[in-house]
Amino acid sequence: MLYNKATKVGFMGCGNMAQAVIKGLIEKKVLEAQHLFATNRSPGKLLKFKESYNIQICQTNEELVESADIVILAMKPQDLIAAIEPIASLFHEKQIVISLAAGITMNTLKKNLSQCRMIRMIPNTPSIIGSGLLGYVASEDVNDYLDTITEDLFSSLGKVVKLKDEAQLEAFMVACSSGTGFVYELMMYWNDWLQEHDFDDDLAKELTIETFLGASLLGKTNINLSLEDLQSKVTSKKGVTFAGLESIREQEIERSLRVAFEKSSIRNQELAKLLK
Ligand SMILES: NC(=O)c1ccc[n+]([C@@H]2O[C@H](COP(=O)([O-])OP(=O)(O)OC[C@H]3O[C@@H](n4cnc5c(N)ncnc54)[C@H](OP(=O)(O)O)[C@@H]3O)[C@@H](O)[C@H]2O)c1
Repeated sequence: MLYNKATKVGFMGCGNMAQAVIKGLIEKKVLEAQHLFATNRSPGKLLKFKESYNIQICQTNEELVESADIVILAMKPQDLIAAIEPIASLFHEKQIVISLAAGITMNTLKKNLSQCRMIRMIPNTPSIIGSGLLGYVASEDVNDYLDTITEDLFSSLGKVVKLKDEAQLEAFMVACSSGTGFVYELMMYWNDWLQEHDFDDDLAKELTIETFLGASLLGKTNINLSLEDLQSKVTSKKGVTFAGLESIREQEIERSLRVAFEKSSIRNQELAKLLK
């Protein structure tokens, strides 16, 4: 199969992530709506989405697999195996399958779909607004061809990063996908502090968001500077920031966060065993 404008892409599951990808593909004119197919367990959101984008709706997953060159598995991990197991024999060796589900390893996917070339991709939530990070591994060391397809299909959601292996994919998931949740946890501490100092809820939230956004954007616009360089620009010896940073280091906040990262990795491995 050669990838071209007529390549048919099917989405099994048309929730938030699939809708974001479809929207990106159509708006950026990567593929036309007539070449995009989707199914969903409950018909309501699929019909609404068809009304907006005029994609092709399949009544069953069987029909979807028979219609698409590339099948994107976009359901929650706990639904995925039950969906593909009964129709596994319909997939054929020319098809490319892209799974977005965390916790379902390449081995588990291959057990069901050994005939297909496979990509495991982990997006993070900012992907829905086009500011995401999407890490992936391929089932075999194919060539640039699968990488081009993956980049083309998902680049409207953010930066697409090819990873060495599933161990690196797990580290990526913890830092960049679960990591988004960790950042919100930190933001809540900022928010609480401001509220305790008489800022009303809306302003406290806005100031918190702008602080994190501003720090990130400053880093992004000065990509040649290290994070230490950026930090040193707000830190004068024995000054206000310095005093706070000294306390952060004394209380070993880095160690606490490392333990949190490790716990997330362990949980991912437990889930992978459960979802085998
Ligand atoms: N959203 C994110 O930011 C994000 C971030 C990281 C990873 N992911 C991963 O991306 C995948 C999709 O996430 P999501 O947020 O888009 O989930 P979602 O909004 O819950 O969408 C999943 C969709 O799959 C449908 N579905 C379930 N079983 C099905 C079946 N057998 N056949 C067809 N459709 C079926 C569900 O239908 P119903 O309408 O019946 O529920 C639902 O609409 C997940 O594996 C998730 O872990 C998402």
